[in-house]
Amino acid sequence: MTQDQLKQLVGEAARDEVLKLSPGQILGVGTGSTANYFIDALAPHKGHFAGTVSSSNATTERLLKHGFKVLDPNEVIVLPAYVDGADEIDPLGNMIKGGGGALTREKIIASMSKQFICVCDSSKQVPILGHFALPVEIIPLSKGVVTRELEKLGGTVTLRLAKNIRADLNQTPSEPFVTDNGGWILDIAGLEIIDPNGLEAQINQIAGVITVGLFAKEKANILLVSDASGVSRISF
Ligand code: A5P
Repeated sequence: MTQDQLKQLVGEAARDEVLKLSPGQILGVGTGSTANYFIDALAPHKGHFAGTVSSSNATTERLLKHGFKVLDPNEVIVLPAYVDGADEIDPLGNMIKGGGGALTREKIIASMSKQFICVCDSSKQVPILGHFALPVEIIPLSKGVVTRELEKLGGTVTLRLAKNIRADLNQTPSEPFVTDNGGWILDIAGLEIIDPNGLEAQINQIAGVITVGLFAKEKANILLVSDASGVSRISF
C-alpha cells in the first residue's frame, strides 16, 4: 500500500468514528493531506453535523467546496471532537504538528474540543518526539530574539521559506513562509523531546512566540493509525 492509500484508509476510519457521535453537533476539522482524505470521506454524510469549525484557510476552502457549513470559532463554545493529522506522535499521544503551517489554529480548535482524534499512518509513530523539526510560529519582528532563545535548547533553528508559493501574497521561493495569521515559522531540528509538557510551556514563555507545534497539553485522546494490516484504534 502507498502512503496515500494508508492516509485514505485512516481518513475513512475517522469518518466511521465521528459518525458514532450524536447528530446535529459541530465538528472540528484539521489540516493536511490525511485530514483532506477524512473531509472527502465525510462529505457524503455532511448532514450528520450541524456544521464544522476549520483549522486553516485551505481546510475551509475544501469544506465549503463539499458543501459543509463552516462556522466562526467565536460562534461555538465546545466541540465534541476534533479530527486532525500529526507529523509525529509518541506512545502517550503527545504530538508534533505544524508541518503544514496551521499549528496555531489547530491548537485553538483542539483546545475547544472534548476529544482530539489523531489520524495518521504508522510512519508518524515515534518512541520520542523530535526527529521531525519542531515548528514554532512567531511574530515576524521577533525572529532574531526568538531564534537566539530557541538555539539555547540545543537544536538548529531555521526560518521556514515559502516552498509552496502563495500567489495571493506574491511570494518568491526565498521569502519567508507566511501563515494564515501573518506569522512566520521557525523549525527546530535535532531535538530529543524527553519532556513534551515542560518544553511546550518553556517555549510558550518566549516573547514573540505565537504557538509551538508541540501538542502535549492538547494531546491526542484517540489515535487511529493505519499500516498494511489495517487501522488500529488506541485510546490515551
Ligand atoms: C498542519 O499544519 C499539520 O499539523 C498537519 O496536521 C500535519 O503536518 C500532518 O499532515 P499530513 O496529514 O499531510 O501528514
